[in-house]
Amino acid sequence: MGSNGPASTPAPPPPSFPLDPLPDADSPLLVLTQPTHAERVATIKHTYRNWGFALTEPDYVAREAYLTTVPLARDGGITHWILTVASLPPDRRPILSSCESLRKRAISCRRRAGGGDDDRDGGKGAVDVEIEVEEGLAHGIGSVFTEPAYRGKGYASRMMKEVGERLRAWQGQSLFSVLYSDIGKSFYARHGWPAYESSHVSFKPAVMGSVGDIERRKQVARAIGYHELAELCAVDEKLLRADLARRCRRDSKTHVAILPELDAMLWHLMREDYMTKSIFGKTPTVRGAVAGEPGNRVWAVWTRGYYGGLKKPEGNVLHVLRVVVEDPEQPDEELVEGFRSIVQMAQHEAAEWKTQDVQVWNPPSKLKGLVEKCGIKSEFVVREKDSIASLRWYGNEPAAEVDWVANEKYAWC
Ligand SMILES: CC(C)(COP(=O)(O)OP(=O)(O)OC[C@H]1O[C@@H](n2cnc3c(N)ncnc32)[C@H](O)[C@@H]1OP(=O)(O)O)[C@@H](O)C(=O)NCCC(=O)NCCS
Repeated sequence: MGSNGPASTPAPPPPSFPLDPLPDADSPLLVLTQPTHAERVATIKHTYRNWGFALTEPDYVAREAYLTTVPLARDGGITHWILTVASLPPDRRPILSSCESLRKRAISCRRRAGGGDDDRDGGKGAVDVEIEVEEGLAHGIGSVFTEPAYRGKGYASRMMKEVGERLRAWQGQSLFSVLYSDIGKSFYARHGWPAYESSHVSFKPAVMGSVGDIERRKQVARAIGYHELAELCAVDEKLLRADLARRCRRDSKTHVAILPELDAMLWHLMREDYMTKSIFGKTPTVRGAVAGEPGNRVWAVWTRGYYGGLKKPEGNVLHVLRVVVEDPEQPDEELVEGFRSIVQMAQHEAAEWKTQDVQVWNPPSKLKGLVEKCGIKSEFVVREKDSIASLRWYGNEPAAEVDWVANEKYAWC
């Protein structure tokens, strides 16, 4: 973990250290390391113009410190990285490029070599194949940043090369690392993170109608609060593991996922708490919605994201972190009313909390069917530039043989 501490007394940015000439990006004099507290604060201040718009600068600096204390990140889960000059002392060296990585629990699943045939029972999958499950880590990389004065010189490329290798065995055995590119598909693919499916279904915010309407809808879907998440996440993880095994029976790909565990959700919700407290002076209570009875439930967990704050609301999105259909064999007709009610609650929350869009990332086919049948106007968007889900696999298989399952917003950071 970096030496980032609480930002109650943020240190001023270290003076800049003009290097003339700047070192080549491939110079052996450069090193990937962790910043000191002062260097970390300086980096945050530089990134404010890109990512801090919804907050004041002091609030943004404080948020970044707070985000080292929440689930996933705390206890060394977050690592801040900088590319700098090895021979210069801390606080007196240039930060040529920077990023951070967040440790998550992950799983991969594949057929054991020499396993059974495909398609043994009409496409449902061979029943007697042996499946190899590997538990490990996945690091999410975020906040890749080069100060304007140092751009175009290959420093971010060098840092990605170094960080990609360092994360292979950082804090344990990594199965893979992921990132979400806002600069299209080619830059990170060139450095080892090919782009995966990056689409979403978009619904528009809508305030629920009459009080009668609200009452009726509440009977179908119920709000999810913090206290319900632990049980739902535990069920989700169990179902996801079964889904991965099922996929292994169907084909010979390696199926991988970041586990949708409680901490993975709390990271988003506590970030959301910080943002909503700062922008609205309060935090939301409705963190998702669930319909149906145990065994036949469908639910969605969501978070409100604010890039534009109230000044530029088009940057604000209610992101559905995860949608779970407990029994995927259940006919759509039995699920659709509950699903419609969940979407309506999300639309209502989106409007109440000044977001401009409700997004459900990479919906699987079951969900696409429910979206079509629910009768609520939606749009399917394939992203080409922003939030491009990208995965670097640390195993031996080529990336094309790695199937990223549950590639949904909860995996983002
Ligand atoms: C993206 C960024 C980190 C690149 O840093 P850098 O040190 O200049 O990167 P390198 O010199 O190694 O590589 C430059 C390459 O980055 C890519 N790139 C940079 N900005 C880009 C953009 N907005 N869209 C697409 N590609 C971009 C290009 O491939 C560029 O190649 P070029 O010089 O041939 O045009 C830097 O521009 C930056 O901090 N931007 C603002 C924050 C940001 O967008 N971060 C990325 C979040 S995913």
